[in-house]
Amino acid sequence: MAFHGSGSLLRNVALLVLLSVFVNGDGQFRGFRRFQLYSSQRTVFDEQWFTQRLDHFNGADSRVWKQRYFVNEAFSKPGGPVFLMIGGEGPVNPAWMQNGTWLTYAQKLGALCLMLEHRFYGESHPTPDLSTDSLRFLSSRQALADLAHFRSETAEARGLAGRKWVAFGGSYPGSLAAWFRLKYPHLVHASVATSAPVHATVNFPEYLEVVWRSLASENAECPVTVTKASSALVERLKDPKTYDNITADFNLCSKLQIQTEMDSAYFLETLAGNFMDVVQYNEDNRGFEGVTGTNITIKVLCSVMGDTSLGDPYARYAAVARLMMDTFSIKCVNISYNSYLGDMTDTSWNGPAAGGGRQWVYQTCTEFGFYQSSDSPNQPFTGFPLVYHVKQCADFYNVSAEQLAEAVAQTNEYYGGYDIRSTRIVLPNGSIDPWHALGVTRDITPDLPAVFIKGTAHCANMYPARSQDLLQLTLARDHVFLLLQKWLK
Ligand SMILES: *[C@@H]1O[C@H](CO)[C@@H](O)[C@H](O)[C@H]1NC(C)=O
Ligand SMILES: *[C@@H]1O[C@H](CO)[C@@H](O)[C@H](O)[C@H]1NC(C)=O
Ligand SMILES: *[C@@H]1O[C@H](CO)[C@@H](O)[C@H](O)[C@H]1NC(C)=O
Ligand SMILES: *[C@@H]1O[C@H](CO)[C@@H](O)[C@H](O)[C@H]1NC(C)=O
Ligand SMILES: *[C@@H]1O[C@H](CO)[C@@H](O)[C@H](O)[C@H]1NC(C)=O
Ligand SMILES: *[C@@H]1O[C@H](CO)[C@@H](O)[C@H](O)[C@H]1NC(C)=O
Repeated sequence: MAFHGSGSLLRNVALLVLLSVFVNGDGQFRGFRRFQLYSSQRTVFDEQWFTQRLDHFNGADSRVWKQRYFVNEAFSKPGGPVFLMIGGEGPVNPAWMQNGTWLTYAQKLGALCLMLEHRFYGESHPTPDLSTDSLRFLSSRQALADLAHFRSETAEARGLAGRKWVAFGGSYPGSLAAWFRLKYPHLVHASVATSAPVHATVNFPEYLEVVWRSLASENAECPVTVTKASSALVERLKDPKTYDNITADFNLCSKLQIQTEMDSAYFLETLAGNFMDVVQYNEDNRGFEGVTGTNITIKVLCSVMGDTSLGDPYARYAAVARLMMDTFSIKCVNISYNSYLGDMTDTSWNGPAAGGGRQWVYQTCTEFGFYQSSDSPNQPFTGFPLVYHVKQCADFYNVSAEQLAEAVAQTNEYYGGYDIRSTRIVLPNGSIDPWHALGVTRDITPDLPAVFIKGTAHCANMYPARSQDLLQLTLARDHVFLLLQKWLK
């Protein structure tokens, strides 16, 4: 989630992987913290298409479009529940129709499994382009209304009347799973809302505080060395004579140029992104999604940061950046803010940020904020303050700081933020995952339980089980199953 913001998308033509980095076809990347887990691999599950209204909140607008979804009937038993996996800020990955904890539950409970792609992501294109005028129809409220309409029509078309529906989602779709139950309780019986940031906030400096703690849990020195390294880099940026060396050390595509605060913020955030991405997905069992680089863990980064043979902390920081680039076969990095701006304002469906970057950042500017700024003193990085993120809203979509603040307040007013009131929603969170800071931290009521998983990262409980899983993770999966069993009685 989280792009610089929630995300960086790793885009490549052949194998689509989603991590947290934007990669252009020619093997460059840009930092862009991402929420999660989608790609566009083809599998045996055929995509299907559902006719959806463009604007659910204007009866006079009858325009429609086609929304992509997938079905797995293998486990479905008469009278069993219907499981609906909610898509989020990227293409849905059909691999989830074949693997994942929700299918284990489906098998035991006789569930029919469906997965619906989120409007404006992947192949689900409601408008001819991604202009800001078109993006007016991109919001969590429209997405929930899509889910409601899809749920009602599918129940009718497939004769599922009387079967209980359960919504699943992780990260932003985790919030959607909770909100679907909240806003449409007659349509969805229960929800599993994993790693769900239900509280919107413009500034989210706590994200990097968790990154500090997660690095420290590996080795207390590790975040201290990262701090020294990032401060040393900031010092060097003050002297243009060092730029040739920095260009070489970090494999930049062209000579470093720092003309504005936005340039340096973009550069510093991109490098910090290496650590954010690895912490967010630490040890998650994501191989089945076609994701590579899962062997780069907190342990690996901290061992590079602790390796004095590589030189001073600055040199080790550069070694981490090169390790990430090698891992993802990225030849060089283009760190110009202007080129990022160019990518993010390309409004074509074939544009460099159309895989989700332009859309997700729009949602952060008009609904959620979630800006992972370096504003807290209790974290390792420097140089990408809140203003850097807020200015992007103006640069990309002409959304002002006042509009952003108002929109975020409205989101919490509409959904309730941390004070969500509903029943039969379970909210698992992982202690390593930086997003847990915006999740529900304790049981709200016995019917709104949180499941805390010590030692795991983003959405860990959704991934397939394996023998080396932490005991807490196994117990959390079982706990969620028992709740579903109870709620579906
Ligand atoms: C994913 O599902 C396939 C087919 O059921 C199975 O062969 C494979 O082992 C699963 N992978 C994981 C990581 O569970
Ligand atoms: C650049 O790196 C070289 C080799 O490490 C070093 O000798 C030189 O002093 C550096 N230049 C600057 C301006 O820091
Ligand atoms: C990660 O796995 C890749 C491919 O299997 C391998 O080339 C690389 O050396 C591994 N990296 C680390 C740090 O273990
Ligand atoms: C980096 O971005 C600049 C600015 O948009 C662009 O002109 C240049 O072609 C990019 N560099 C590479 C190597 O693609
Ligand atoms: C930006 O928004 C303001 C008001 O919110 C409007 O007056 C102005 O025309 C907009 N500019 C562009 C380029 O759309
Ligand atoms: C996650 O949920 C557990 C269980 O309710 C709670 O004790 C814990 O504080 C939560 N953790 C975080 C970091 O939100």
